[in-house]
Amino acid sequence: MLNFNYHNETKIIFGKDTESQVGAELAQHTKKVLLHYGGASAKATGLYDKVVASLNEAGIAFVELGGVKPNPRAEMVYEGIELCRTEEIDFILAVGGGSVIDSAKAIAAGVHYDGDFWDLYTKGGAPEKFLKVATVLTIPAAGSESSTSTVITNEKTTEKRGYGHGDLRPVFSILNPELTYTLPDYQTACGISDMFAHVVERYFTPDPIRHDVYSGRLCEAAMKSTVELGRKIFKDPNNYDLRAELMLAGMVAHNGWLGLGRGGDWSSHEIEHEISAFYDIAHGAGLCIVIPAWMKHVYKNDIAFFAKFANRVFDIEINTNDLEETALAGIAALEQFYLDIGMPIRFSDADLPTDNIEGLVKNLLLHRDAIGGFVKITAEDAKAIYELAL
Ligand code: NZQ
Ligand code: ZN
Repeated sequence: MLNFNYHNETKIIFGKDTESQVGAELAQHTKKVLLHYGGASAKATGLYDKVVASLNEAGIAFVELGGVKPNPRAEMVYEGIELCRTEEIDFILAVGGGSVIDSAKAIAAGVHYDGDFWDLYTKGGAPEKFLKVATVLTIPAAGSESSTSTVITNEKTTEKRGYGHGDLRPVFSILNPELTYTLPDYQTACGISDMFAHVVERYFTPDPIRHDVYSGRLCEAAMKSTVELGRKIFKDPNNYDLRAELMLAGMVAHNGWLGLGRGGDWSSHEIEHEISAFYDIAHGAGLCIVIPAWMKHVYKNDIAFFAKFANRVFDIEINTNDLEETALAGIAALEQFYLDIGMPIRFSDADLPTDNIEGLVKNLLLHRDAIGGFVKITAEDAKAIYELAL
């Protein structure tokens, strides 16, 4: 098993009506926040009003910055950094999904950074200090509510890049499954795809031992249960317990726990980020297009491991005479699952342009020669993967 350090200080406040606790929780840390939120949903669902009432009740002053777009943009981060500097804010409350939370984290990293915050996303490093972030989560998907990472799109350079730091884990995150009843089915499905992908990226470890006795089985259980939830939730979307399990699954998928000692691959995420950077598709939908293609490109590196994935996640009987057949059946089962929950699995399904593969590959490897932990992905590999996804 690979060495690891794990420190996760995010307090998770989970359950019905928990958003009413936000003011009291904040009062333990600060007197003033930047209230950061997305487009129309927070106000339309009444969540914005509830959060404001809780802030007022606890005597928390706030300055607001709404309008974060899905695939959050650098432009708004610059605006948020200026606002926090002018208003002397040291705490950001993100009310929304991964996009709002990631935008909040980017602002949190940029306020005390001596330079352009975007350098952190392209060159790494760290600011003198980070602002604190807390969240009220409205969609189980990106896992940003307890992850160290943030992903931002820079429209000027058409780059979508991630940045991570331990100090970016939220101080607390409020997860009320009832808040997710208003999600359109498409967004619920995108979330399911993203949380499944976060486990895939950790399951396909660079360590040749694969650790399939304990930590591998945790990943398999997480993936299998996510598929089961995906098959049930659309038939019964206001079922509290199903929504609650999904919210828990999204958090566990990306809080780092399932990758302990395994490392990860992450090339499918990088390959997808180019698609959402260029075409503004939802990240979860893009992943359904990329992951089967990535699997088809790399499975020959460990056919037995892919056969195990097929068997343990999709209950496909192992053909001991032909493990490759089992491995390919697992990939086909994953594609079918994506289709069953209404996701695209090819560029053509999502009406994405197919004539810019060179551009995607060029951007993907702008700052590096290769990506990926399980298998190194070069420009030639990336081109092959995009082509398999057309
Ligand atoms: O903008 P509003 O009006 O709020 O609508 C949002 C948005 O259109 C809507 N929505 C959210 N909660 C809702 C709701 N609509 C009705 N009812 C609710 N309760 O859903 C849409 C999508 O929201 P978004 O925040 O974009 O979704 P998600 O959580 O999937 O976040 C996606 C972003 O996270 C990044 C992705 O790349 C993408 O930019 N990721 C962040 C990660 C991280 N920080 O750890 C890891 C992930 O791999 C991912 O890359
Ligand atoms: Zn993701």
